Amino acid sequence: MTSTEHRAASVPTRGTVTKAVIPAAGLGTRFLPATKATPKEMLPVVDKPAIQYVVEEATRAGLRDVLMVTGRNKAALEDHFDRHWELEKALEAKGDQLRLARVRKSSDLGNIHYVRQGEPLGLGHAVLCAADHVGNHPFAVLLGDDLIDNRDHLLEAMIEVREAMGGSVIALMEVPPESVQLYGCAAVEPGWQENGDGSVLRVTGLVEKPDPADAPSNLAVIGRYILDPSIFEILAKTPPGRGNEIQLTDALQQCASSTEPGGGVHGVIFRGRRYDTGDRLDYLKAVVRLAVDHRELGSDFSSWLTGFVAEKDASALDSATS
Ligand code: UTP
Repeated sequence: MTSTEHRAASVPTRGTVTKAVIPAAGLGTRFLPATKATPKEMLPVVDKPAIQYVVEEATRAGLRDVLMVTGRNKAALEDHFDRHWELEKALEAKGDQLRLARVRKSSDLGNIHYVRQGEPLGLGHAVLCAADHVGNHPFAVLLGDDLIDNRDHLLEAMIEVREAMGGSVIALMEVPPESVQLYGCAAVEPGWQENGDGSVLRVTGLVEKPDPADAPSNLAVIGRYILDPSIFEILAKTPPGRGNEIQLTDALQQCASSTEPGGGVHGVIFRGRRYDTGDRLDYLKAVVRLAVDHRELGSDFSSWLTGFVAEKDASALDSATS
């Protein structure tokens, strides 16, 4: 099938993207014990929980209808995006308008809905839990622990690709070949690297966490998707895969080879700043990167950090020479 035929088979017929689904029901085992009683999406990144950055990203892209897929410990997530009348009254009484605005911001972000994933059966299953809410329209999926820096407009670019090409759209990031086993990995139309810009490509196949020797590329799937609603039918029939979980990657693999309306997958290459806050090291990097650029804290934090690194370098030099 040529690219033109492929495009014709996947012309968007079911409207534009208006809804965002945020899966936040995973167990968060990589961050234990911090995530024993607190969802990893609630871990603070400077002064906001990770998930608030994700909801802000969705609303900035015009997606004000947000469905959160929650699991155990869902109360903290719901409370964060709800009004907190007592706190607001106390701040009002003190005349603390600055903090009052901060507290209100998270409850004014959009229309946030919740659905419960009874058991963490995998990301694909979490997405399937959104079927009734989403209906027959394309929708965005943003993983609740995956942060995209707000200066990078990945989601908007992906929505544009969906509108132009139809089908589903995934976000891809080049990673060192040895790291590909940590991600879903995409096979793409041959020759893309030589094709100049190469920022939007046709995806021909997907595999979840491959051994580096079997990986079709070093393009890793990261936590942003625009999905055609036909994915729900596929997910409902997708058996558990790697880790005995229902994998979104396995369902997308079927979409990639489908010539049915709504089929076809394109990838947008992302070269910006992205942090997996469910991973301890990446979480620490996210805190430092965002703290350095923070409007109020950035300058003081940067000077402290520069001094700290110099001190550390000096003491490493001392112990090497003594
Ligand atoms: P992860 O692959 O990070 O898995 O999920 P996890 O269980 O949350 O965390 P670890 O690996 O044990 O540390 C990717 C995204 O999919 C959601 C997670 O909340 C996260 O946003 N997810 C995963 C669900 O909502 N439900 C699931 O059953 C699995």
